Amino acid sequence: MKMLEDTPKLHVTRGNTIVSAMFVTGSLSIAIAEMNLMSTLDFGLEDLGSYVWWICRVVINSKYRRRGYGRTLVDQLAQSQLGYAMIVTPGGYDMSPDEQTSFYAACGFVQRGEFMVRIGDRS
Ligand SMILES: CC(C)(COP(=O)(O)OP(=O)(O)OC[C@H]1O[C@@H](n2cnc3c(N)ncnc32)[C@H](O)[C@@H]1OP(=O)(O)O)[C@@H](O)C(=O)NCCC(=O)NCCS
Repeated sequence: MKMLEDTPKLHVTRGNTIVSAMFVTGSLSIAIAEMNLMSTLDFGLEDLGSYVWWICRVVINSKYRRRGYGRTLVDQLAQSQLGYAMIVTPGGYDMSPDEQTSFYAACGFVQRGEFMVRIGDRS
């Protein structure tokens, strides 16, 4: 008998300097997004304030892409911005930078030099 696929459940973990959001189905993590709080001095972005959230990874299992999981996870991270901007440099993985840039643009990021930036949702 074919088992019905579980509806993926959202989990968000918040630390002082790291936030993780993931969708889990059964014991399998099928989508994850993480960001770290970093000094703007590390990026030459001091005009954005003292700190920025650096998005270090957003990865969706290839079978679950284009279903809104990626955008939902990034929006979850945005709820923990506390006024700080989120930044990302699209690149890496097995996807073209152009496709990654389109994804982040759809998530509300705007290009700024080598970075894409989403200004803090809440102060
Ligand atoms: C990029 C990635 C995270 C997108 O996740 P996803 O869950 O498929 O994205 P969503 O379904 O939430 O897409 C939201 C919007 O982003 C844009 N988008 C998503 N994937 C896209 C692609 N491959 N090409 C162009 N635009 C894309 C679309 O506007 C999309 O809205 P639509 O489906 O209504 O057109 C996923 O493809 C992935 O894990 N890629 C490999 C890892 C990676 O490259 N991560 C980013 C590294 S910085």
